[in-house]
Amino acid sequence: MLAGGGGWVWLPLLWLVGSRAGDPAGYKRKVSLEYNPGWNSSAVNLLHVRAVGLNDTIHYVWSTIGAPTVLLVYTRSQSSGLHVNWTQLLSPSPSGAIQVEPAGSVLYSMAVIFSKVFEYNGTKTSDLSKANASSFYPTYDLANFTWDSLDGRLNETTLTATFQGVGPDSGGTFRNGSISFQVTAYEETSRDGPLPRLLHTANSSKVDFVMRGVAPRGNRSRFALEIVTVEERGGQKQLESTRSIDDEYTPTIFEMAQLVSVPRNDSAGFSFLQWKTAAYSALQPKREDTVHCEYYQLETENRTVPRPSIAHAYFGEELEVHNGVAAINISFGSEDSEAYQEKSYLSWSALIGFGKPPKDGFSPLVIAILAVGLGTPVLLLVGGSITVLVSRKKPYSEEQSFPLVEPFRDGGSCSCFPCCAI
Ligand SMILES: *[C@@H]1O[C@H](CO)[C@@H](O)[C@H](O)[C@H]1NC(C)=O
Ligand SMILES: *[C@@H]1O[C@H](CO)[C@@H](O)[C@H](O)[C@H]1NC(C)=O
Ligand SMILES: *[C@@H]1O[C@H](CO)[C@@H](O)[C@H](O)[C@H]1NC(C)=O
Ligand SMILES: *[C@@H]1O[C@H](CO)[C@@H](O)[C@H](O)[C@H]1NC(C)=O
Ligand SMILES: *[C@@H]1O[C@H](CO)[C@@H](O)[C@H](O)[C@H]1NC(C)=O
Ligand SMILES: *[C@@H]1O[C@H](CO)[C@@H](O)[C@H](O)[C@H]1NC(C)=O
Ligand SMILES: *[C@@H]1O[C@H](CO)[C@@H](O)[C@H](O)[C@H]1NC(C)=O
Ligand SMILES: *[C@@H]1O[C@H](CO)[C@@H](O)[C@H](O)[C@H]1NC(C)=O
Ligand SMILES: *[C@@H]1O[C@H](CO)[C@@H](O)[C@H](O)[C@H]1NC(C)=O
Ligand SMILES: *[C@@H]1O[C@H](CO)[C@@H](O)[C@H](O)[C@H]1NC(C)=O
Ligand SMILES: *[C@@H]1O[C@H](CO)[C@@H](O)[C@H](O)[C@H]1NC(C)=O
Ligand SMILES: *[C@@H]1O[C@H](CO)[C@@H](O)[C@H](O)[C@H]1NC(C)=O
Repeated sequence: MLAGGGGWVWLPLLWLVGSRAGDPAGYKRKVSLEYNPGWNSSAVNLLHVRAVGLNDTIHYVWSTIGAPTVLLVYTRSQSSGLHVNWTQLLSPSPSGAIQVEPAGSVLYSMAVIFSKVFEYNGTKTSDLSKANASSFYPTYDLANFTWDSLDGRLNETTLTATFQGVGPDSGGTFRNGSISFQVTAYEETSRDGPLPRLLHTANSSKVDFVMRGVAPRGNRSRFALEIVTVEERGGQKQLESTRSIDDEYTPTIFEMAQLVSVPRNDSAGFSFLQWKTAAYSALQPKREDTVHCEYYQLETENRTVPRPSIAHAYFGEELEVHNGVAAINISFGSEDSEAYQEKSYLSWSALIGFGKPPKDGFSPLVIAILAVGLGTPVLLLVGGSITVLVSRKKPYSEEQSFPLVEPFRDGGSCSCFPCCAI
C-alpha cells in the first residue's frame, strides 16, 4: 500500500515535467494580416501575413493568383516589408513583381504550390502509384479554378483566412461543392484543438485542404493532392517520417511525415512542411472520421513549377534553373473506406514553417503511465529491502512481518495495470 501510493504521488510532478517538455521555447511573434496590400480590388486574392519576432520577421504570402501558393520569406529585420508591383503581377510576365525589402535583410525563402487534385478509380487499389492511367479521371488543375474573394473570409482576431474556389464547371462536379485552403497563422507555441491536433510554434502557419460537396465522378473515387515546393538557390528538400508509440493527440495515427530542407553551409535557413498521416471526413472530426492518408515518393528530378503562380513573381521566370524544385503526392482514402462518397467531405492539415519542425514529445499522460509502471516496482523493491532490513533487526516481532508481505502483493498488481494499458 505504502509503496504503491508513493508511485501515484509522483504523478502530478511528472505531469508537470511532461507538459513543460511539450512546450519548447515560449517564442512569440506579433502577427498581422494584410489583404491585397496596395491594391484596390478584391477580384484577386493575395494575403500577406507578417510575423514579427525579436530580431526578425517571417513573411508569408498566400495567393490564388494562379495555382494556390504560399511564399515563406525569412528576414533578419523587424521592419522588412512586402512590395508588390500589381500591374506587373497581373501581367503575363510577373517576374520580380513580388519583393521583400530591404533585399539585404532576406536570409531565406521558399514556396509551396498546391498544383493539382487527382481523382481516380480506387476499386482495385487506392495506392496512387499503382493505379494505372485508365483509372484516372481528368485532373483538376487548381490554377484554373475560380476563387472567391477573401472579403468576409478573413478574421484578424483568429488570424485565419479561407481561400475557396470552384473548378471549371465542365461536368457539374462543383455545382454543389468547393475546394478550399484555410490558412491559420500563429503567435505562439500551442496545440490545435481540433484533430489532428498538430503542435505548432510561432514560426509556423497551418493550411487545411478541404473538399466539400464536390461530386465524385465514380462510385469508388479516391482523391490525391499534388504539392510542389521551391527551395531557394538550388537547395534540396528531403522526406522524413517519424513514428511514435503515442497517439494520444491523434488517435490511431502513429506517423508524422515532413518535408524539410537539406541542411547547407551557405544557407541561413531551414523550412518544413509537416503533416500527420490522417485526413478527416467531417467538419468537426472525431476519431471515427479518420481517413487514411498516404504519401508517395518525393520527386526532385526535372520538376517544373506550374504556371501561373506567384512563385514566378518572386523567384523569377527561370526559377527551376536557380532553385530546387520537388513534388509530392498525397492521397486520401484506403481500400476499405468509402468516406468521401458517403460524407462528401474531406480535410487534411499541414504546417508550413521556418526552422526545425515541431516535435511531438511523449504526452504527459503517457510519461505518467510509463513512470508509474516502471517506477512503482523500483520503489517497491527499495521499500521492500528497507522493510526487510529493518524487520531483520527485530526477528522475534510477529506483528512486523505482516505488513512486509501486504505492500508487495498490492503494489505488484497495481503496477502491472499501467504496463498492460500501454
Ligand atoms: C479604387 O477604385 C476606385 C474604383 O474602382 C477608384 O475610383 C479609386 O481611384 C481607386 N483608388 C485607388 C487608391 O486606387
Ligand atoms: C538582435 O540583433 C542584434 C544585431 O544583429 C544583436 O546585437 C542582438 O543581440 C539581437 N537581439 C536578439 C534578442 O536576438
Ligand atoms: C511595375 O512594373 C511595371 C512593368 O514592369 C513597370 O513599368 C513599373 O515601373 C513598375 N512600377 C513600380 C512602382 O516599380
Ligand atoms: C489498366 O486497367 C485496365 C482495367 O482495369 C486494364 O484493362 C488494363 O490492362 C490496365 N493497363 C495496364 C497498363 O496495366
Ligand atoms: C487550364 O487552363 C489552361 C489555360 O487556360 C489550359 O491550357 C489548360 O488545359 C487548363 N487545364 C485544365 C486541366 O483544364
Ligand atoms: C473572428 O472570429 C471570432 C472568434 O471566432 C469571432 O468572434 C469574430 O466575430 C470573427 N470576426 C469576423 C470579422 O468574422
Ligand atoms: C447539395 O448539397 C446539399 C447539402 O449537402 C444536398 O442536400 C443537396 O442534395 C445537394 N444538391 C445537389 C444537386 O447535389
Ligand atoms: C523561432 O525562430 C526564432 C528565430 O529563428 C528562434 O529563436 C526560436 O527558437 C524559434 N522558435 C521555435 C519554437 O522554434
Ligand atoms: C454506384 O453504385 C450504385 C449502387 O451501389 C449504382 O446504382 C450506381 O449505378 C453506381 N454508379 C456508378 C457511377 O457506378
Ligand atoms: C473502376 O474499376 C473497376 C475495376 O477495375 C471497374 O469494374 C469499374 O467499372 C470502374 N468504375 C468506374 C466508374 O470507372
Ligand atoms: C561546410 O562547413 C564545414 C565546416 O564548417 C566544412 O568542413 C565543409 O567543407 C563545408 N561544406 C561545404 C559544401 O561548403
Ligand atoms: C531529366 O532530364 C534529363 C535531361 O533532359 C534526362 O536525361 C533525365 O533522364 C530526366 N530525368 C527524369 C527522371 O526524367
